[in-house]
Amino acid sequence: MLDPRENNELLGKDDNKNRAKKIIIISVAVISIIILVILLILYLTLRNKEDTDNNDTIFNKFVIKGTFIDTLIKDEFRIRKGYILVEDGLIKDFFEENPDKSLKLYDYSSKLIIPGLSDLHLHAPQYSFAGLGLDLELLQWLEKYTFPEESKYKDVEYAKKAYEVFVNDLSKSAITRASIFATLHTDITLLLMDLLEQKKIYAFVGKVGMDRNSPDYYIEKNGKDETKRFLEECKKKNYTYVKPIITPRFTVACTDDYMKYMGELAKEYQIPVQSHLSENLDEIELVKNITGTDFYAESYDRYGLFGNETKTIMAHSVFSPDEEVNLIKKNGVYIAHCPTSNSNLASGICPAARYLREGINIGLGSDVSGGHTLDLFEVMRHAIQVSKLNYRYLHPEQKPLTLSETFFMATNKGGSFFGKVGTFEKEYEFDAIVLDESLINNIGEYNEKERLEKFIYDKNGKIESKFIRGNKIF
Ligand code: GUN
Ligand code: FE
Repeated sequence: MLDPRENNELLGKDDNKNRAKKIIIISVAVISIIILVILLILYLTLRNKEDTDNNDTIFNKFVIKGTFIDTLIKDEFRIRKGYILVEDGLIKDFFEENPDKSLKLYDYSSKLIIPGLSDLHLHAPQYSFAGLGLDLELLQWLEKYTFPEESKYKDVEYAKKAYEVFVNDLSKSAITRASIFATLHTDITLLLMDLLEQKKIYAFVGKVGMDRNSPDYYIEKNGKDETKRFLEECKKKNYTYVKPIITPRFTVACTDDYMKYMGELAKEYQIPVQSHLSENLDEIELVKNITGTDFYAESYDRYGLFGNETKTIMAHSVFSPDEEVNLIKKNGVYIAHCPTSNSNLASGICPAARYLREGINIGLGSDVSGGHTLDLFEVMRHAIQVSKLNYRYLHPEQKPLTLSETFFMATNKGGSFFGKVGTFEKEYEFDAIVLDESLINNIGEYNEKERLEKFIYDKNGKIESKFIRGNKIF
């Protein structure tokens, strides 16, 4: 028999052991929780830091390293390996050595970096049916596909869904600046502008004007008031990245009274103009019959909608007679050359090489969805290819577009519509695309210019990063 006192002592020892065990378990649990909390805080801090990488207000000054390619003149690529210092969205200068090691460095040592591409002409509401109906020519295509689709955008839900897809894809593309047609719906056009603003895409966006020769279900009854309201609403919104542009659809669809008013508004509000010009033979004939003008451009020019004091983009100019070309030059009008659209709709071949060499302001346009793609590299390829057909079959005196000329149109010339944009010169806005060549068949040894050539022609080229006015988009 155990002495009960001994028994009590043993029990006391067990109690102590148990208490010690409990203390150890609780301590381990508390320490584990503390470690977990520390790890969580660390994770959140690091994640936040990554987010701020994309925030221009934190990194308003940074250095970027890589091989920079641009075209100061149309006939020559400039290739420089080194560093560019960017401050408040503007290029301070190019350096061979890192100018300031204390700054954030984006290191793209082995990559090619080119200026962002400017799309001078596209229709956001047409993105939803890109590729459809292209067995038709312009006027039939407008009637059967374009107007029915654009009219659907009166439904906010549909418009929101479709425009979100468009803006997302535009954001992922090589396009950093764009001049965009919306629909004739004022508030829905503002919705599109809100979405573009959120993505920090610099764009001109136009509420489309059309008050004649349009179907009953897609025509404006009070276009003048709505255009004015559109401009007033834009003013109130005080956007940073998107701006309004006066947008008569084309002469066929706008009464003289409306065109006159739009010309007055462009002047009053000091905003640019965009429309279509001499795209298709039937269209040109229609304009001649309706307006009695000597040539198409006159129908815009007489209302102050054709350059001069009002910056203007005219899409196409495939069949412009000499008087029209002279007026384009005299008034400094920009031509948006849209070769994919001109081929798809069997419109014709724009003499782009001739225009460029004659000093006309000519850039590229995807013209989605007369053009089937937002990929401006494809538009560049197509521009070169049709210029070769033009040279071989139509105009042997017009040598085909070269790669540097075409690149110049997509970057330098197109960019100049938006300001100091499109090259890596000092004081220019820093719009840049970092090229990802990993999927391109680069089995041989190529110099930088050859790598760029391959990238432009090879559909496997991807975009690694994109900057718009110093904002890192991705
Ligand atoms: N002319 C008038 N409207 C349009 C349009 O939506 N697309 C093209 N390519 N030409 C036009
Ligand atoms: Fe168009």
